[in-house]
Amino acid sequence: MKSSFLSALCLAAASPAVDAAGMLKATRAAAGFHDIKTTNYVPMRRHESSTPSTLLHKRALTRPTNLTNVHDVYYIIDLVVGNQTIPVSIDTGSSDTWLVQEPYDCVSFFWPIPGQPLDCGLGKGFVGPLSGGNITSHYFGRAYMDGTFVQGFFGYEDVSIGGLTAKHQQLALVNYTFWQGDGRTSGLLGLGYPYMTSLDGPEENMPAYDPVFTTMWKDKLIDPVFSIALSRSNEATPQHGQADEESYLALGGLPPVELDDKTWARSEIQGINAIPEWQFETKEKGLYIITPEGWVIDGNKNATANTTATFPILIDVGSTLSILPKSVVNPLYAAFDPPAVYLSSTGLFYAQCNATVPKFGVEIGGKPFYFAPEDLLRQTVRDKSGEYCRIGVTDVNSGPYVLGVSWLTSVVAVFDIQNSEMRFASRNKY
Ligand SMILES: *[C@@H]1O[C@H](CO)[C@@H](O)[C@H](O)[C@H]1NC(C)=O
Ligand SMILES: *[C@@H]1O[C@H](CO)[C@@H](O)[C@H](O)[C@H]1NC(C)=O
Ligand SMILES: *[C@@H]1O[C@H](CO)[C@@H](O)[C@H](O)[C@H]1NC(C)=O
Ligand SMILES: *[C@@H]1O[C@H](CO)[C@@H](O)[C@H](O)[C@H]1NC(C)=O
Ligand SMILES: *[C@@H]1O[C@H](CO)[C@@H](O)[C@H](O)[C@H]1NC(C)=O
Ligand SMILES: *[C@@H]1O[C@H](CO)[C@@H](O)[C@H](O)[C@H]1NC(C)=O
Ligand SMILES: *[C@@H]1O[C@H](CO)[C@@H](O)[C@H](O)[C@H]1NC(C)=O
Repeated sequence: MKSSFLSALCLAAASPAVDAAGMLKATRAAAGFHDIKTTNYVPMRRHESSTPSTLLHKRALTRPTNLTNVHDVYYIIDLVVGNQTIPVSIDTGSSDTWLVQEPYDCVSFFWPIPGQPLDCGLGKGFVGPLSGGNITSHYFGRAYMDGTFVQGFFGYEDVSIGGLTAKHQQLALVNYTFWQGDGRTSGLLGLGYPYMTSLDGPEENMPAYDPVFTTMWKDKLIDPVFSIALSRSNEATPQHGQADEESYLALGGLPPVELDDKTWARSEIQGINAIPEWQFETKEKGLYIITPEGWVIDGNKNATANTTATFPILIDVGSTLSILPKSVVNPLYAAFDPPAVYLSSTGLFYAQCNATVPKFGVEIGGKPFYFAPEDLLRQTVRDKSGEYCRIGVTDVNSGPYVLGVSWLTSVVAVFDIQNSEMRFASRNKY
């Protein structure tokens, strides 16, 4: 079932536990491990929803099923589209770039809450026509796994990120949507491969086009590589004025953060047929899929359970949690001391906020990359009693599995399209 699988942006899964750039171009040594810091980077604002429980509550009310949304941390950049600056969230789990167009229709497939006007929670959108004109041969439409959707039309406009401009870029303007944002963003920047754009629309047979990043490297503005560093500090206002506490999207090289050079590891990017649940036959590259070699759990008393379970996984900036099979996550839950528990009111696993957190890591390219304790047990996301904190990893019955923000905050991730590989290095403590 490939329809609507994509994104992780608005993440939900099946039950039970739910389920600034400068103008200089950096060159890069072919060896791959010698990525060079680029001046083509933009800081990202991290947004953590301040009222996650309310959001979850609202979702529970408006939702006919048990879907639990955990999209409560996301990273925002400002796109300059034509001459308008539009905040969008970044996503490596999709490829389209879309913006809402003012005015747009916000609708709901589900029953509205009486007395409350429908609000899709989108920021101010794009105003007026696209300077490059509309595409009239086909429409834009995409549905996400949690029931949200966007619909509209394609056209052409110059799109800039920092100092780089993708000229006459195809993008989508959305004028009809069911969305549940919190007003911080007005669209999405999809960083996946061109192939995914062909999966738009109900028939998933649209003509593929080059997304923003692809246009930038094909136009030789940058090398075909981008990288991200996601920090835990909210907004772009680091507490101690440290660049390391900011989050970055870097185009053509590495972002300006400190990392541990000894930890570089690489893993091949696989075709979309690598995810069996999607039932694709094509080996075409679509998203950032790798297969780690194993998982390391170093817990207390009970649990030291290294596993060599190998399964393909998506590297997805658009997913707050990491989403893994029960065979890996159940031992992890048990390795907390005291062990994590399922809170049915939330649909997710929580542990006491003062619990001892196990070491948990993924082995990639022969190197273990550990989740940070503060990402495994999130002190900022609590149950109603305030005593239980949410685990940064959740379990699902079947794939696609995801390494999301809860893991990416510990690494610099390099998305190398030229060599079809992902590279990672551990970040120095920040
Ligand atoms: C919701 O999840 C709970 C816990 O797994 C399950 O018992 C219940 O049947 C689910 N409800 C629906 C409507 O799927
Ligand atoms: C933006 O571009 C439009 C069309 O080219 C023009 O009418 C408008 O005045 C410009 N706005 C600004 C703020 O430059
Ligand atoms: C493109 O379509 C939009 C929405 O229907 C419309 O407002 C706009 O005028 C169209 N632009 C052009 C150049 O036709
Ligand atoms: C959205 O834009 C399309 C393409 O221009 C147009 O046909 C449609 O009527 C618009 N829908 C709304 C709700 O404005
Ligand atoms: C150890 O495992 C047992 C059986 O699964 C469980 O009852 C117990 O709570 C666990 N203890 C700790 C400290 O994780
Ligand atoms: C698990 O893997 C880690 C890292 O590879 C290693 O240090 C540790 O000794 C392993 N533990 C067991 C029980 O195999
Ligand atoms: C942890 O917090 C709980 C309340 O949430 C408390 O009952 C317990 O004593 C605390 N444990 C430790 C070791 O501080």
